[in-house]
Amino acid sequence: MTEIERIDQLRKELHAHNYNYYILNAPVISDQEFDRLMRELQDLEAKHPEHYDENSPSVRVGSDISKEFRQVEHRYPMLSLGNTYSEAEVADFYERVRKSLNEDFEICCELKFDGTSISLIYEEGKLVQAVTRGDGVRGDDVTDNVKTIHSIPLVLQGSGYPDSFEIRGEILMPWKVFEELNRERELREEPLFANPRNAASGTLKLQNSAAVASRKLDAFLYYMPGDNLPHDGHYENLQEAAKWGFKISKHMRKARTLQEIFDFINYWDTERKNLPVATDGIVLKVNSRRQQRNLGYTAKSPRWAIAYKFQAERALTRLEKVTYQVGRTGAVTPVANLAPVQLSGTVVRRASLHNADIIASLDLHMGDMVYVEKGGEIIPKITGVDLASRPAGSEKVTFITHCPECGSKLVRYEDEAAHYCTNESTCPPQIKGRIEHFISRRAMNIEGLGPETVDQFYQEGMIRDAADLYTLRASDICRLERMGEKSAENIVNGIEKSKQVPYERVLFALGIRFVGETVAKKVARAFPSIDKLESATLDDLVHVDEIGEKIAQSILRYFHDERNRTFVTRLREAGLQMETSEEDQSGRTDRLQGKSIVISGVFARHSRDDYKALIERHGGKNVGSISKKTSFILAGENMGPSKLEKAEKLNIPIINEDDFLAMIEE
Ligand code: IVH
Repeated sequence: MTEIERIDQLRKELHAHNYNYYILNAPVISDQEFDRLMRELQDLEAKHPEHYDENSPSVRVGSDISKEFRQVEHRYPMLSLGNTYSEAEVADFYERVRKSLNEDFEICCELKFDGTSISLIYEEGKLVQAVTRGDGVRGDDVTDNVKTIHSIPLVLQGSGYPDSFEIRGEILMPWKVFEELNRERELREEPLFANPRNAASGTLKLQNSAAVASRKLDAFLYYMPGDNLPHDGHYENLQEAAKWGFKISKHMRKARTLQEIFDFINYWDTERKNLPVATDGIVLKVNSRRQQRNLGYTAKSPRWAIAYKFQAERALTRLEKVTYQVGRTGAVTPVANLAPVQLSGTVVRRASLHNADIIASLDLHMGDMVYVEKGGEIIPKITGVDLASRPAGSEKVTFITHCPECGSKLVRYEDEAAHYCTNESTCPPQIKGRIEHFISRRAMNIEGLGPETVDQFYQEGMIRDAADLYTLRASDICRLERMGEKSAENIVNGIEKSKQVPYERVLFALGIRFVGETVAKKVARAFPSIDKLESATLDDLVHVDEIGEKIAQSILRYFHDERNRTFVTRLREAGLQMETSEEDQSGRTDRLQGKSIVISGVFARHSRDDYKALIERHGGKNVGSISKKTSFILAGENMGPSKLEKAEKLNIPIINEDDFLAMIEE
């Protein structure tokens, strides 16, 4: 076989493997094998520039050449769809269609994908152009970027596709990719994307296609506007397109009755939350293209299709009052109390306002009509005020000056957004908050005990701090209201068991400011007993990796306070672990000190969690995503291809489990 023949063979094979992996979700070769073939192709292509093919599978990796996009006119204008928000409006649409057609018809029900729309042109089975919607008449030529999206075929398979045709669809960023991207951006302190739609369209418009390739976009195709298609049915044509290699949603259904349409809508209204990509509604299309032509278009949209939008993720409601919550650290959080409003399936009554600056930037007034949104977070937030409906003479919301719980004057430290109540010793929510933190799962993990019981104990004067828990007797507890003997015993047993919780978690449970779980582990490793920690100087502390001045100062401040020292002594007397056990200390090394390690793939010899623990035991850090700072990747079977791509681009070593184990052995 000549090298040219080999290039053609590799291109064919790689297109097929790409289809198996990204469309069918059923790879037939390993990622390593795929990469080997791809590298072979890239090498041969470099040797034979005369045999260049703009649709070679190798273009998927993108190029870092930057260029402005060319504007292209659409063959068929990209219209939008009429929106409806209720079953009644859907029924109106159905009636209109029924009356105009005056014959039997089918409605194709589809998910409305919430990304950015794209028009793809194929000539002789090859992708030749990809254009964004733009203003509907002309859009940006983003062909190079689109070619990096693995679920868009560069070369079609099967037969029966028209010589030249257009297919449209939606480019999407899957939720997981979106969340990961935002996590990375947060670390780099870059502005976050508000939703996967913005992230997808932002990515598609990047000037550097190699950057696009690294962002793992996906695409569903849902419409072919031409008149040279195999079938009269839209649904049937899309099934055909699936055979040509396009990614077509498996969730399309043909409906004949209004009831079937409603069933589809109602099913997906909740079920969509389990999809890997964002959807914002349902699209209903008259299935027959002949009937579509009969129905025609208005100036803006087809008469043969509509969108039904799921309940808005944003709601407008009245701000009734602002209350303030005091946390265990004394931080005071303002909370907006709202007139109850429906928002993505739940009734919202409260939203966090975060801090005084947020209130000021919203210029919030009492009685304002405010927009509430549920982002990725569970707690809804206020994103804006409808100034037009502000009641005349309404009072501006100003931050309180005194603690709503204990009346102490609030302080605001320099460089901090929050206000604090500094009355640590007698402000009730601070006391209860500290105890709740102490017993929480990741800290002392005291079974049978929750915030309500803590509150009950506190109200009854049985506890004033977490050390008091260790003096409780079952006979005292079961005297409380709604408390049986059995639960009382459970609580006492849970408390007893917590005496075995390792020192590093005790350290976390103390609730020293800025000493979270990870920092507590670091501190415990550097100072293997609480006595050593108590006598550490600022200098000792800041010398520990990842402990900065802020954390160090906070630890010093904690032990400087007589009350905290007494508290720690009482915990020690109760029998808690105040030093790293022999067992824990043995086997610890610093062989991975300073290393950031990404774990990827499936392993044969240990579980992923075991590897995580091993990395930590040897002083390394397990991180979630690959960056320039990653020291190496601990890779098992089936490491994702995009991770591999990224690792190669950044020149990051990939180490298998045997080599890793050898590395920490000795
Ligand atoms: S069909 C002429 N089907 O929704 C009809 N559109 O306002 C062409 N969309 O811009 C569109 N999922 O970006 C169609 N299954 C689907 C869709 C869909 C999402 C988007 C598309 C369009 C907008 C309609």
